[in-house]
Amino acid sequence: MAEGRATTVTDEPAAAPGAAAGKHPALLVREAEPLNAGPPPELQRAAFVTPTELFFVRNHAPVPRLDPDAFRLAVRGLVERSLELSLAELGERFPRAEVTATLQCAGQRRDELAAVRPVPGELPWGAEPVSNACWAGVRLADVLTAAGPEPGARHAVFRGLDEVEREGRRFGFGGSVPLAKALSPEVLLATEMNGEPLPPVHGGPLRVVVPGYIGARSVKWLAEIELSSRSSDNYFQAKAYRLYPSHVSKETADPAQAFELGELAVTSTITSPRAGEAVGPGPVRVEGIALAGGGRRVERVELSGDGGATWTPAGLGAEGDGWTWRFFAGEVALVPGRDEIAARAWDSAAQTQPESAAAVWNHKGYMNSSWARVRVRPQRPGEREVG
Ligand code: MTE
Repeated sequence: MAEGRATTVTDEPAAAPGAAAGKHPALLVREAEPLNAGPPPELQRAAFVTPTELFFVRNHAPVPRLDPDAFRLAVRGLVERSLELSLAELGERFPRAEVTATLQCAGQRRDELAAVRPVPGELPWGAEPVSNACWAGVRLADVLTAAGPEPGARHAVFRGLDEVEREGRRFGFGGSVPLAKALSPEVLLATEMNGEPLPPVHGGPLRVVVPGYIGARSVKWLAEIELSSRSSDNYFQAKAYRLYPSHVSKETADPAQAFELGELAVTSTITSPRAGEAVGPGPVRVEGIALAGGGRRVERVELSGDGGATWTPAGLGAEGDGWTWRFFAGEVALVPGRDEIAARAWDSAAQTQPESAAAVWNHKGYMNSSWARVRVRPQRPGEREVG
């Protein structure tokens, strides 16, 4: 050992913040603890089903350490029979079910909203918190049917076992979905992700997966389901993950002015070319991801190289079993003098993306589904890359 080097510990390269959770070192890390990270654009579209190590992570508190053998799920509230189920009982009593579903955080592309006006106290997510996985477990509908919803039940209220601190209180992250959604066959109590046991960072041993809804409703480390006449009074349903009007600020916000977020809006992002990339001359190949909410289909994606004056259709890839993203690829000509490529998706309800982030700004920075835009570096004929 060289003189003067008392320890070799500091010579080790620092491990990436997600390494202990089995995450890929290339993830863009917005926060190390609790871990909040997602794949960069060049890896996001690498596979239709996102490898688990690349799947984004959104945590509001440290990952709880849970003993799967001691784990129990309670089902209570407006039910004929309260249930308490171990993981083994869940697997034995109910048929196995699988769904391939894309999760997307309501805060995706908040960075573009923050560029319009500040979004204080929120993670500056780019396009990375959206990923697609094969989930397996049992249907929530089967478990709720076994409990027997009472006539007054309108909402399925979920509570997780993490310990979040907000407004001077500690509590488990929670949220709810309407009972009709909870009884839909695509909603799973998942114990597996991509053919492996659900990793702790993604909610293992048990989470709910609510396809078509904002990611926040897919509560991880799920310990309790309560059927209720009302939606959840948890902070993350009653105050956060609501859409506030554009004229209110963090200081003036009143939850009564806001509505609860549920189904995702149709949206798209461009994964290639990257911002600042040299393109052309001639048609530019554009690749990206489109997603429709609530089980609607992505019917069309269009590209523009002239600020939205004209649009060219892109080709669409596979669409899974109806709860997944669709990849798109196409070519578009960048009009001389322009340096921005835009994309917009349309869904089966004939809805499309709003033109600008400014039009949908809100102080929590949710649901920026505006046109995907990427500013590139157009090259003139004869111009060559140096080096
Ligand atoms: N569940 C619990 N218990 N705690 C959380 O912080 N985050 C939610 C949701 N479920 C969260 C949670 C949010 S906002 C999202 S977008 C998804 O989990 C992210 O799931 P993932 O980390 O598996 O990608």
